[in-house]
Amino acid sequence: MAAAGSAVGLGNIWKFPYMTGEYGGGAFVLVYLITIAFVGFSVMVAEMLIGALGRKDTVGSFERLAPPDKKGWKYAGFMGFNGLIIMTFYSVVIGWIFYYLFKLSSALPTSTETAKATFDNLVANEPGVQIFWHTVATLIVTYIVYRGIKGGIEKINLILMPALMMILFGMLFYAFSLDGFSKAFSFMFEPDWSKLNSEAIVRAVGHSFFTLSLGMGAIMTYAASLPKHTSITQTAFIVTFMDTLIALVAGLVIYTFLFQEGAPAAQGPGLVFISLPVVLSNFGYIGTFLALLFFLALSFAGLTSAVSLVEPVVQYIIDRFDTTRLKAVLIAGSAYYIVGIGALLSYTKAWGETFSIAGKPLFDILEYTTDSILLPLGGLLIAVFVGYVLQKERVRSALAHEMGDRYFAVWRFSIRYVAPIALVFMMLNLMGVLKI
Ligand code: TRP
Repeated sequence: MAAAGSAVGLGNIWKFPYMTGEYGGGAFVLVYLITIAFVGFSVMVAEMLIGALGRKDTVGSFERLAPPDKKGWKYAGFMGFNGLIIMTFYSVVIGWIFYYLFKLSSALPTSTETAKATFDNLVANEPGVQIFWHTVATLIVTYIVYRGIKGGIEKINLILMPALMMILFGMLFYAFSLDGFSKAFSFMFEPDWSKLNSEAIVRAVGHSFFTLSLGMGAIMTYAASLPKHTSITQTAFIVTFMDTLIALVAGLVIYTFLFQEGAPAAQGPGLVFISLPVVLSNFGYIGTFLALLFFLALSFAGLTSAVSLVEPVVQYIIDRFDTTRLKAVLIAGSAYYIVGIGALLSYTKAWGETFSIAGKPLFDILEYTTDSILLPLGGLLIAVFVGYVLQKERVRSALAHEMGDRYFAVWRFSIRYVAPIALVFMMLNLMGVLKI
């Protein structure tokens, strides 16, 4: 459940729907689904395997599992620190969501202009408000992680994940009753190949890694505390399935509301912050209620992912420096909190230039480097480690009895060839597409 909570995040409910809109719908969704099935799932099994066999923090697990002459692999474990880089902007976005929860409860914007003005004004002119909500987000996440895996992380996942699913499925049922639903369905599931360009493919591949929380050690860290004899294959399958299901449901719900009111699909990152509230304002009281539920679900999804971004570093600090959890959490928390302030300031009018490098806002730089370089690199290291460095017999004895020999061979082929090629292809292309 915690791994599913990590995977299901802003990536599913905010990013996936707006990317689907920007890249033209069905064809993008299909590429995303194919990558999840053929690459994402295999890497998920590999990452869980390292955690389940290593049973330590990310650095410790790599170190323990590497053969004696290859102990340098322990440095791959530093991928855990990418979690803090992601958290710098993830926490800011969770802050925006909190702000919206608070703001929308009074009134929904009735025109796109006012909605856009609200969002743009928050981002460009309200550093204080943003810092306030970023602080609230940081404090909540810090407290949950401080309570530990059993007392904090598992508990909130056990509550928030079912709540999130109930909200989203409830909204889906409501969406069934609207005319917009069939349009949303065809938009998402009838591929229009003319809309698929190389950028869309690369972004779909990249997103399939982000959404599954792969390549950073989050899944690895959680797998290190799985009960012995838990089936890795089955766990990876459930997590992958739930993550994909929730992304698709979120997409269907949002597009049903949008098409119901005749709004266009391509809205960019403002989709849920600008377009959705306006569309829902046409639904009267039900609309306000739906908007609140939606942002509540979004904040739950964000929080359960955020804790998984922080926990790997916290475990590393505890294991290596023999400190208390409290100290480790405070160190990790302050690191991303401070840089996060820089990230949010980089979008403001007053401070934008100070916090930009070569004309690019710090926020974008942090997001691009993790999405297009660090996560794929982490995924590549995981695939190479499990495919080539770990003794084959060890891997076989852990997985073949779960998968059966035939699927084990398919999985191994995917981890040795398909995943590395897809990841290198993606890294090179993303750097080109995003012009870094
Ligand atoms: N998967 C989460 C989302 O979809 C984000 C996330 C959490 C993540 N942990 C991660 C992404 C580890 C990459 C690596 O929003």
